[in-house]
Amino acid sequence: MDRNSRIFVAGHRGLVGSAILRRLTEAGHTDLVIRDRSQLDLTDQAAVRAFFDREGIEHVILAAAKVGGILANDRFGGDFIRDNLLIQNNVIDAAWRAGVKKLLFLGSSCLYPKHAEQPIKEEALLSGPMEPSNKPYAVAKIAGITMCQAYRRQYGFNAICAMPSNLYGPGDHFDPETSHALPGMIRRFHDAKLAGDPTVTLWGTGTPRREFLYVDDMADACLHLMDHYDSEEIINVGPGDDIAIADLAALIRDTVGYTGTLTHDLSKPDGHPRKLMDVSRLFATGWRPRVSLEEGLRRTYDWFLENAAPDRRQASKQAAE
Ligand SMILES: NC(=O)c1ccc[n+]([C@@H]2O[C@H](COP(=O)([O-])OP(=O)(O)OC[C@H]3O[C@@H](n4cnc5c(N)ncnc54)[C@H](OP(=O)(O)O)[C@@H]3O)[C@@H](O)[C@H]2O)c1
Repeated sequence: MDRNSRIFVAGHRGLVGSAILRRLTEAGHTDLVIRDRSQLDLTDQAAVRAFFDREGIEHVILAAAKVGGILANDRFGGDFIRDNLLIQNNVIDAAWRAGVKKLLFLGSSCLYPKHAEQPIKEEALLSGPMEPSNKPYAVAKIAGITMCQAYRRQYGFNAICAMPSNLYGPGDHFDPETSHALPGMIRRFHDAKLAGDPTVTLWGTGTPRREFLYVDDMADACLHLMDHYDSEEIINVGPGDDIAIADLAALIRDTVGYTGTLTHDLSKPDGHPRKLMDVSRLFATGWRPRVSLEEGLRRTYDWFLENAAPDRRQASKQAAE
C-alpha cells in the first residue's frame, strides 16, 4: 500500500478498526475510506456492492464483525453466525467483483480446536473439535477464511487471513455482560476501588495462561502484512508469550491502584490450562510487537478513565444537567 492508495477500513469505530485508522494516519496514508453502520450496513448485500462499485477502493482491511465474550456468544449465537457470515460474504465478494487489489480478513485464536497442541501452529485449524461456547462465531469466521482461500485459488484474489490473539487497548468494551476477560477485569478492579470493596474474587485458580496483544501492535502487524504477506496460508498474530491469569490480575490491580486483596473462587472452572499461538511464521517476516503488557495496561486504563468509566459518564452527565 503506498501513501495515496485508497483504503477501506471496515469497522473503523471498533477496537481493532480504530487502531488501524490511527496507524494508517500516523504512517501518512491520506485516502482512507470509512463508513459507520448507519451509512453502510455491511449485512446489506446490495448496499455493499453499490459501495464498492462506486468508490474505487484498492485495499480493504475487514475489521467489522460481531464480536463478544463467552456470555454474549452463548446468548446471541444466532446473531453471531448470521451477522458475521453476511458481513464477510458481502465484503469479500463485492471487493473481488470491484477489482480490489488486496483484502485482509481477521480470524481469531479462538477458532483453533479446543485441544490444539501448544503453542498453536496455523496448521492446527480444523484439525480437531472446537470449543463449543463460541461455535456460531467460529464457524462463521472459518467460513470467511475458507472463502478467502477459495477466491485466491479460483479467481486469483489477493485475500489474506490473520489470526489475532486476545487483543486489548483503547476503544475496548468494558461492559461486564459482554466484554472479554481483560477489560472485564479492569472494570471490576476499578469498581471495587471506588466502592472500597476489600476483595476482588477471580474465577478458578488463576493458573491458566493466556496471551494478550496491545491493539496498536495488532494494527501495526496488519499494515505489515498488507505490505509483506501474500499467501493463502493463515498467519497468527500475537505477542509470542503468555501470562498466568493471576499474574495478569495482579498487574491490573496495580495499574488501577486497587489496594484490596485478590481471592480465588475455586468452585469455578479454570478452562483450558494454556492458549498460546506459535508466531514464528509472523516473526520470520520481520515483525515484532513493541508495547509491553504493563505499558499497554496503563494506556488502556487511562483511556477507560477518560471514556468508559461509569463514574466518569455519571459525572459528565451531572455536569451537563
Ligand atoms: N477483540 C479481540 O480480542 C479480537 C481477537 C481476535 C480477533 N478479533 C477480530 O478483530 C475484528 C475486529 O474486532 P473488534 O474487537 O475491533 O470488534 P468491535 O470493537 O466490536 O468492532 C467491530 C466493528 O464492526 C462494526 N460492525 C459490526 N456489524 C456491522 C455492520 N452490520 N455494518 C457495519 N459495521 C458493523 C461495528 O460497528 P458499530 O460501531 O456500529 O457497532 C464496529 O465498528 C473482528 O473480525 C474480530 O473477530 C478481535
